[in-house]
Amino acid sequence: MTILDGKKTSQDIKLEIAKAVKELKAQNNKTPHLAAVLVGTDGASMTYVGAKVKACELVGFNSTLIDLPEETSEEELLKQIELLNTNDDIDGFIVQLPLPKHIDEQKVLMAVNPDKDVDGFHPENVGRMALDLPTFLPATPFGIMELLERYNVETSGKNVVVIGRSHIVGRPMSILMSQKRKAGDATVTVAHSRTKNLSELTQSADIIVAALGIPEFLTGDMVKDGVTIIDVGITRVDDATKKRGFRLAGDVHFESVSKKSAFITPVPGGVGPMTIAMLLKNTLLACSRK
Ligand code: GUN
Repeated sequence: MTILDGKKTSQDIKLEIAKAVKELKAQNNKTPHLAAVLVGTDGASMTYVGAKVKACELVGFNSTLIDLPEETSEEELLKQIELLNTNDDIDGFIVQLPLPKHIDEQKVLMAVNPDKDVDGFHPENVGRMALDLPTFLPATPFGIMELLERYNVETSGKNVVVIGRSHIVGRPMSILMSQKRKAGDATVTVAHSRTKNLSELTQSADIIVAALGIPEFLTGDMVKDGVTIIDVGITRVDDATKKRGFRLAGDVHFESVSKKSAFITPVPGGVGPMTIAMLLKNTLLACSRK
């Protein structure tokens, strides 16, 4: 069993980015600048955005955190996005999801200038991804593709089951892995909450991407020997034995599934750090494209 080490791989990628930043500075006197908009005080979102900003510093980017109160109106948020769209100093920005319920997420994502949409969530960029045109790939799927590629996991002709059809992970993962590309050329099945014969599907899968958000959902009896497992889940589960009162659990029951796996991502230290590294990669791309 080989651990797909997202922590180590993301560090390698961050070193590559830091080198590219130095070159960009020397050649064009440019420094990539990422802005992140956070609305409200959701604990997990604050942690993720904090990690993204910290990662910027590490690779030599400029970063701006725009921290808005929970009661920010949709109109105010749209105004803030327009400021970022027209600010030449900002190469790319993200609006951390989920947003408070009174804000229309779709409307907000559509307001982002596609050239600065380093999350790859704007419909124009989603369309470009689906057509295999140059674009910003959404960071989590991009990170998974990179991990599969760097560990030389064979995907061509393999049966892949993606569990979850979210716009952020499941759907783009299914599109990317079915395309003619590195870590692609697979036969992909998308399973979701209405899927009837899930165990049958997962038992014949060569690769499983678990992105449904239910802690330890995928268990050893549901997979075959030699399977490759990508665990996208990261849920805070109450745990009184931990100082902070919770532990982080993936969508995969690691103990039983890892025994049968050829490759598996851990939680934490698998997909999560890769997501941040690929956001930086997209920001570097946005800056060098300008
Ligand atoms: N919430 C969960 N994942 C993501 C992500 O990749 N980008 C943003 N903006 N919000 C998220």
